[in-house]
Amino acid sequence: MLEVDGVSKRYGDVLACDDVSFGVRPGELFGFVGGNGAGKTTTMRVVLGVVTPDAGSVRWSGHPVDHPTRRRFGYLPEERGLYPRMRVLDQLVYLAELHGADVNAAHRAAEHWAARLGLREHRDTEVQRLSLGNQQRVQLAAALVHDPVLLVLDEPFSGLDPLAVDVLAEVLRERAAAGVPVLFSSHQLDLVERLCDRVGIIQAGRLVACGSVSRLRAGAGSTLVVDAPLAPAGWADRLPGVTVLDVHNGQTRLRVRPGTDDQPILAAALATGPVRGFTHHHPSLAELYRDVVGVGSR
Ligand SMILES: Nc1ncnc2c1ncn2[C@@H]1O[C@H](COP(=O)(O)OP(=O)(O)OP(=O)(O)O)[C@@H](O)[C@H]1O
Ligand SMILES: [Mg+2]
Repeated sequence: MLEVDGVSKRYGDVLACDDVSFGVRPGELFGFVGGNGAGKTTTMRVVLGVVTPDAGSVRWSGHPVDHPTRRRFGYLPEERGLYPRMRVLDQLVYLAELHGADVNAAHRAAEHWAARLGLREHRDTEVQRLSLGNQQRVQLAAALVHDPVLLVLDEPFSGLDPLAVDVLAEVLRERAAAGVPVLFSSHQLDLVERLCDRVGIIQAGRLVACGSVSRLRAGAGSTLVVDAPLAPAGWADRLPGVTVLDVHNGQTRLRVRPGTDDQPILAAALATGPVRGFTHHHPSLAELYRDVVGVGSR
């Protein structure tokens, strides 16, 4: 298990990480989301030991992370770093060996991941001649090629075409199912929602929400659409736990705070006449994110 415990990191006036704590368990896909400059990359660099925190620590299986352990981690850095003149397969073999694989195993793993990520036809191409998305695939293969015990991937989906997104999603699920904790950042919230067991939302260096999407949802309440065509204006204004969002074509959209009993709302709607619809809409991760982070903040 990976544990990030109270990590803080300051750059001048900027608190890039402010007492960030979370864990990623074996077999868990953890999605790290937050606006530009929120602190995702800095946190991941601390996990990988690329950046030394001012406070806090990172533990793997209960122990501080040392160099030999770190070598077994798989990392996709934000600043992609491949050797531009090296051929794809040579690059992957080299990196696998660098992480301790013997020659045969390195070749097998390189062939495997090149094929898996759709790079077979480019195996002998120099990296610098590949398109952006294909370079990204090589970079991903590089993070996977030494069979890492932990995956830390900084925006692994960026630049990939839709089919490659599907392949990578499948690969991450597989790795997780094999017991590997997977931590990745992404701005594609629909993808994070679909893929992740838990998510962490970071804002201005602080982890402002952390948990499964369903748990975050439970804490956020819901939107209720009531189709009561004869209801007069203001019918829901005094109901406890309720805020009227808008009224359109006889449909009233209400914000219902968590833990609010919806039956008095239904009774109030019925008191105005027929009720043709009464539907709870649970927020998507994108909506939760906007709620938590608000607009116009770092
Ligand atoms: N090496 C550095 N020197 C100075 N400031 C830095 C450095 N690295 C990060 N920062 C600052 O720390 C804050 C967090 O940056 P970080 O790269 O962690 O954000 P992020 O969440 O990864 O953003 P993005 O979504 O844009 O990748 C930003 O204000 C950034 O400018
Ligand atoms: Mg970043």
